[in-house]
Amino acid sequence: MVADRFFGRTALPEYGPMAPSEEELHLFGDLTNAKLLDIGCGSGHSLQYMSQRNTAELWGIDLSSKQIDAAKTVLKDCPLPGRLFESPMEHNPGLPTDYFDIVYSIYALGWSTDLNKTLANIYKYLKQGGTFIFSWEHPLFSRVKNIDGVLTFQQSYHEEGPYDHEAWHQPAIMQQFRISTYINALINHGFMIEKIVEDISISEEDIKRDANRWYSIDKAKSLPTTLIIKSKKL
Ligand SMILES: C[S@@+](CC[C@H](N)C(=O)[O-])C[C@H]1O[C@@H](n2cnc3c(N)ncnc32)[C@H](O)[C@@H]1O
Repeated sequence: MVADRFFGRTALPEYGPMAPSEEELHLFGDLTNAKLLDIGCGSGHSLQYMSQRNTAELWGIDLSSKQIDAAKTVLKDCPLPGRLFESPMEHNPGLPTDYFDIVYSIYALGWSTDLNKTLANIYKYLKQGGTFIFSWEHPLFSRVKNIDGVLTFQQSYHEEGPYDHEAWHQPAIMQQFRISTYINALINHGFMIEKIVEDISISEEDIKRDANRWYSIDKAKSLPTTLIIKSKKL
């Protein structure tokens, strides 16, 4: 129903609105001959970006048939091996285990209905020493609203679980967690945290955009828009 909103948005090299991009952060490093898996691959634009980095295989998984169809079209001129699966990320639809050098997820993990099942799957897909990188809306950003220039908590930071994200103007149920919950879940599943990014990076384009949008510059100047975590399978 909301698949069209995702076409080519929030895709690498961007990690999220007003977040520093991969061109600035270089979290992925050298990808020569790497096998990659994109969780919540959407329209395939992140995979397309990765196809230009000497990678060996590109795989993706997404819940939406519309998104998988879009990704097939976006990736049609990309000759690299790999497969796209239409499946919820909480289930393994037949992905190989102990196989991938990198698993990543750009603005999709918060849609997972079961963070623990999703992380357990990701851990299994990765080779030992493999990297997991994800970005999602920062938990402070989603709980605070800019009301006439005053930043106001709409919801307690301590409150976790499903919520209907108001920026969508239609039902859009996502999961909200504290930063410690993400970090502890990763640790419990056997990951080592390598880097956490909460910086903002405001472009000329952002400055020209509507100041009243959800991702407003005023709000971003006080709160991180995006949480990015890089971790490693021990
Ligand atoms: C913001 S888009 C991601 C954009 C994408 N990562 C990219 O790089 O272009 C979020 C995606 O998550 C997918 N999604 C939502 N819930 C999911 C779930 N439980 N399992 C798998 N994919 C899911 C949606 O269909 C959507 O394509």
